[in-house]
Amino acid sequence: MLKINEPYKIVITEDQLKKRISELGRRITADYNGRDLVAVGILKGSVLFMADLIREIKLPAEMDFMTVSSYGNSIKSSGNIKIINDITLPVKGKDLLIVEDIIDTGTTLSFLIDHLSLKDPLSVKICSLLDKKSARNPAHDINIDYSGFDVPEKFLIGYGLDYQEKYRNLPFIAELK
Ligand code: IMP
Ligand code: MG
Repeated sequence: MLKINEPYKIVITEDQLKKRISELGRRITADYNGRDLVAVGILKGSVLFMADLIREIKLPAEMDFMTVSSYGNSIKSSGNIKIINDITLPVKGKDLLIVEDIIDTGTTLSFLIDHLSLKDPLSVKICSLLDKKSARNPAHDINIDYSGFDVPEKFLIGYGLDYQEKYRNLPFIAELK
């Protein structure tokens, strides 16, 4: 269906998301076989990605969530991150996988790695659907262990990503016009 009046342009389709997420799931399944995997989704952006990814991980994984705020209602990162809700599962000695929607400057992720590492897990790795590599602050040059797609420095919405809390329910990734 052609919609010419939408305020966005699709950049990653539903089919592309599905295919890539199943690949990520297969890799994670192979890498974490026999380990105590806890997937930690960062709300709210990761909620659709987590729901699809976890079903592609064919292991008895545990799931938990954290809510952090960094952007407020603007399209620029404030760099001022607050924990709204922390994880509740005990994770000492377990293998944590942070599940994020998008890594932009890397500020949120650096904060999360530091915070979760204090809980004494066996390992902390990162799975992000999108990587806005060119926006990375060199101070947060973090390796993304499982990355879905590299994306340009544009403001994206859909599949969990919001603009002023809207558009999270779009089933694809789009660029806000
Ligand atoms: P960072 O701390 O600058 O890496 O920002 C990471 C967080 O900012 C992500 O988890 C998103 O919630 C949000 N974010 C970054 N880029 C975008 C975007 O293009 N659209 C919507 N949210 C974004
Ligand atoms: Mg987020």
